[in-house]
Amino acid sequence: MNLAHWPFAGLLLALALPTHAADAATVYSKGGSNPAAMACVTCHGAEGEGLAAAGFPRLAGLSAGYLKKQLADFASGARANPIMQPIAAALTAEEADAVTALLANKPSPQVERISRAAPAAELGAVLALRGAWERNIPECVSCHGPSGVGVGETFPPLVGQSAQYLSAQLVAWQQGTRKNDPNDLMGHIARSLSQDEVNAVSQYFATLTETGAGQ
Ligand code: HEC
Ligand code: HEC
Repeated sequence: MNLAHWPFAGLLLALALPTHAADAATVYSKGGSNPAAMACVTCHGAEGEGLAAAGFPRLAGLSAGYLKKQLADFASGARANPIMQPIAAALTAEEADAVTALLANKPSPQVERISRAAPAAELGAVLALRGAWERNIPECVSCHGPSGVGVGETFPPLVGQSAQYLSAQLVAWQQGTRKNDPNDLMGHIARSLSQDEVNAVSQYFATLTETGAGQ
């Protein structure tokens, strides 16, 4: 075949490519095909690291399954949030698939894995590593993994998130605006925690990256 035909063929191919072949990087940095699907980068940061001071969570390194479930839960209102609801609802399924796969491939924070048997004196460490079984509160690391690094598609990381974001989620479960967890696992736990306990355990996971190997 005459090589001179190739640029033209490439152009035809580009035109013929279905618009649903969503480009993850474009969705992340410029937004989805629907203008209401605002660019993620504005709030979640250049590398998906989040913006702690504003309560915008880290997305980098979270599992694609968890991220996709959250987008569906925002869209349905099972996780009520006035900022994310319209954005999640405006993403096409292909755009959600693409952008969550991109984020899952980004690095997770590096953190020292703390054993469940490690000494735990302060309230946050006690809840994280021992729980409060007299009130049916399991230790957080039993589901969220050592140092809260996350386990599989179901249990998200807690380490790498800010104390503001973590405590806001626990309060959302207490108030019933977030009710998207399987079998009310987190709802039961959050409602069993006092405000002091919410603050202490959120602070505990938020500061692990500072005391550990760093991000
Ligand atoms: C205007 C700011 C803003 C923009 C733009 C934005 N987000 Fe968010 N996002 C938030 C906030 C705030 C939260 C926390 C909501 C809450 O407290 O429940 C959040 C939470 C999330 C979560 C849940 C994370 C977790 O750990 O459970 C996901 C997933 C998410 N956003 C994905 C996206 C994607 C994908 C885009 C781009 C298409 C995007 N966001 C654009 C502000 C934004
Ligand atoms: C029995 C298992 C289990 C235990 C124990 C558990 N969690 Fe969870 N947690 C979950 C599941 C499942 C989710 C994800 C729910 C969803 O799909 O949105 C979650 C999500 C969270 C989130 C939201 C993270 C995000 O990115 O939005 C926070 C915060 C949280 N848990 C804190 C805690 C704390 C603090 C403890 C200990 C006091 C704890 N969890 C113990 C199962 C558990």
